[in-house]
Parts: sequence; structure tokens; C-alpha cells
Amino acid sequence: MINEKYRENGTDIDETARQRSFISLAGALTEQKSRALGRPLTYCLTTFGCQMNEKQSEAVAGIMDEIGYHRQENEEADVVIYNTCTVRENANLKVYGRLGHLHSLKDQNPDMKIILFGCMMQEAHVVEKIKKSYPFVNLVFGTHNIFKFAELFYEMLLSDMQIIDIWEGTDQIVEDLPTERNYTFKSGVNIMFGCNNFCSYCIVPYVRGRERSREPEAIVREVERLVSDGVSEVMLLGQNVNSYGKTLKEPMTFARLLKMLEPVEGLKRIRFMTSHPKDLSDELIETMAESRKICHHLHLPLQSGSSRILKEMNRRYDKEKYLSLVEKIRKAIPDISLTTDIIVGFPGETEEDFEETLDVVEKAGYDTAFTFLYSKRTGTPAAKMENQVPEEVAKERFNRLLALVQKKGRERSSRFTGTVQEVLVEEESKEKGIFTGRTQYNLLVHFPADESLLGKYVKVRLDECRGFYYLGTRV
Ligand code: SAH
Ligand code: SF4
Ligand code: F3S
Repeated sequence: MINEKYRENGTDIDETARQRSFISLAGALTEQKSRALGRPLTYCLTTFGCQMNEKQSEAVAGIMDEIGYHRQENEEADVVIYNTCTVRENANLKVYGRLGHLHSLKDQNPDMKIILFGCMMQEAHVVEKIKKSYPFVNLVFGTHNIFKFAELFYEMLLSDMQIIDIWEGTDQIVEDLPTERNYTFKSGVNIMFGCNNFCSYCIVPYVRGRERSREPEAIVREVERLVSDGVSEVMLLGQNVNSYGKTLKEPMTFARLLKMLEPVEGLKRIRFMTSHPKDLSDELIETMAESRKICHHLHLPLQSGSSRILKEMNRRYDKEKYLSLVEKIRKAIPDISLTTDIIVGFPGETEEDFEETLDVVEKAGYDTAFTFLYSKRTGTPAAKMENQVPEEVAKERFNRLLALVQKKGRERSSRFTGTVQEVLVEEESKEKGIFTGRTQYNLLVHFPADESLLGKYVKVRLDECRGFYYLGTRV
């Protein structure tokens, strides 16, 4: 039971302490077993889907580490965990495909535990299928109760049954549980959960629930803690960051949150995604233009260039509004890098509609565009629309769009050739001695460097544009 006394605006302090006690209990069992086996216990965690999933996987990894498991890349581990995505059909198919392989691994090691969680598990038909066809899966939970992972894991260790715990929704936001980080110098920070937009093609509002914002003070505290831990770049995450704060007890805007983060000492770069065009305010544009820390990169999903299709998609902007927004942003921040998402083959899309999309790509000047074939998601309004576009037609359009996006992207990205840019050195590339850095515009640069520069900011001359990345030299 949740003690009401400790609940304030959905933040639950008591729950954090409860979960910590399960970490200790599971830790004791793990130590016992590890001693009996004479080796450390291992886990393998794979994340599908978006950066919000990545972030939540870090939380699960943090708890596994604390319990005493050692992480490994290989799936021949004591515990195998998938954080799933269901935004498009192929995300689901990947998980089912890999479960078959896991079954054979489990035949060799019956003690192995398999855990599935995340967006796909919020769909009733998926859970039915797992119960029926994949009884060897040990634990299934969803998106609303990830904070309960330690408790569920402990229960699983004590049980021979398949444990399934799916919540319909939650207003709870549990702070301050242990978490691991994929990088030491940059980190995602959730500022909100869920989505209220119900774009007609999209499953996210059904599997992530209603929009809930974290308290600004909790976000600032997390960022300060990350910075004192060595992080200098944060990516603020939400399905629609532009509507941040609307549901708080004391409502506030996303731009104000950005202003609260600006003074954090040691924080060098602020990024965010995703921005819904319908909620992008003048206040945000102004804040971005004035800030010394907010990167001049905006991910502004278009989805379609046809006003008629946008209406059917329930996006609540049209082609003209989108293009005038782009113009306004470019005027205020001339060096802005714009990226986008586009769906091809939404039900009822005609050749003329598709050409409107091509037209926006011609005009908007994207650095990169992520293009997707429309995927029918059961339960969404678009799935029931009768005029689904034949696959061959959609694929043909997709290829045309991709060719244009790549051509325009190359033209646009090459505008930096010969300039010197500050980059954050992120990792060694596949080639030894060549490191990858990221400009504030989210462009990647490969250049000779050494490990001592990882996580540092260096000046690099961008010598040669290779489409989506540059070759450069340190200056
Ligand atoms: N909240 C973000 C999008 C999150 S999903 C926004 O509103 O922009 C990421 C991208 O997946 C979307 O931008 C969309 O382009 C794509 N997508 C979502 N549902 C899809 C579907 N049913 N079929 C194909 N692509 C889809
Ligand atoms: Fe999906 Fe639309 Fe919400 Fe984005 S804003 S997550 S596309 S419903
Ligand atoms: Fe996928 Fe869920 Fe993200 S459906 S895209 S992992 S919110």
C-alpha cells in the first residue's frame, strides 16, 4: 500500500525506500547463489525503441548492478532482459524472433531467467501470446511499473511461475532509485512521461498512458547531480516536450524549465526531443536564441506534408503552419539544424498528398529526416481506416522520398565544410585511433585523437562531408 502522507504531486518518497529494501533482499539471494556457483551471476539487457526506453533501461541496469549481477553483451547469461518497443510492427517481430533463440539457450541452462518489459507488454494481445506460446518467459511487466523492478525481480527469484504485472496507467513518479549510465559525460533526462496527443496512427498514448510532467525542481536536482558526476550534455526527453508542465499542480512552460537549467554550472550543452510543431511557442524560440547552452538543433517531426493527411493524422497543424514555423525558427536562429520524422503510406495517401511531402522536404532544409513506412497498429483509429495504401505503392514512394531526403541532407550538411567546430568527443570509431565527436548541430565528425579526449570538448576542422558525417582534423 502506498502511504498517502508521502505522496506529493505523484512523487512517492516512501516507494523509493520500499524498492531499496527489495534490492537488498534480492542482493542477499544473489550473493548466496553466486557463492554456491563459484562465479558472478550475469545479465544481458537489450533495448528496442526510443531514447526514453534507453533511459529506463539504464534504471533497470542500475538496479541489476546494485543487486550484484554483472552486465555482459552475450545472451548466454543468467538473466536476459528485453525492453521492448511497439511503435511499428517490425519492432515486435524482432522480439518474437529473438525469443525463439532464447528458448534454445534456456534448454541448455534451465536456470536462466527471461524478462520482458516496456511498451509492447502494455498490449493485451501480446501478453496473451506470451502466456500461450512463450511460457518459458519468467517475468513480464509494462511501462507504468518499471519503478517496481526490484520487487518484481525478487518475486521472480522466489517463484517457479510466470509472473505478469501490467498496470493500466499510473500517476506515480518515483524518484531517486539507482541508475546506470551508458556514457559518463552525457545523459538523457526524462522530463515527462506519456502522451495526450493521440495522433491517429500512433500506439504510444495507449502504451505509455497520459502525459505526466516531473516537478521542475526534481529535474534540476537530477541535472545538477549528473553534472557533479561528470556529465556536461543532457538530452531532455519527452514525447512532446513543448507541452511540458501543463499538467503540474503549478503549471509552467518548457521554456521556463530550460531557463531554470541554463545556470547549472558545468553544464555545457542542453538538447531535447521531441518537439511537436503544434505546441512550439515563440517563448521557446526566443529562449533557444538567447541561450548559451541550448544546442542549435531541433527535431521537428513533419509526418506528412499534405494538410489533408495531417488532419486525418490528428496532428493539429497544416503544411502552411509548419512551413511558416520553420521560417520563424530560421529567422531567429539562422544556423539551426533541423531534423524530422516522416511517415509514408498513411491510409488514403494519394500521389498528390505524397508530392506535398516531397515539397516540404524541398523547402524545409532538413539536415536529416527519418523516414518510416506506415505500420498499422491495432487499437489506433488509423488501423480501422478502409483505404490502406498497397504495400508496393508505399514502398515505391518511400524510395523516392529517401532519395530526396539524402540528396537534400547532403547539400544541407555540407554547409559546414572548412569551418572549425567545437565537438564533444563521444567514442572511438570502428577504425582504431579515429574518434567520433558531435557538433552542437548533432552532426558527427571522425578525426584522429586518443582516449584521453573522451568526454572532452575539442575544436575540429570539418574537412570533408561524407553525407551524414564529416572527416576532420583537430586544430
Ligand atoms: N512523439 C514523437 C514521436 C514518437 S514515435 C512525435 O510526436 O513526433 C517516433 C516516430 O515514429 C514518429 O515521429 C513517427 O514518424 C513514427 N511512427 C509512429 N507511429 C508510426 C506508425 N504507426 N507507422 C510508422 N511510423 C510511425
Ligand atoms: Fe505518438 Fe503523436 Fe504522441 Fe508523438 S505526439 S507519441 S506521434 S501520439
Ligand atoms: Fe517505442 Fe515505446 Fe518509445 S513504443 S518508440 S519504446 S515510447
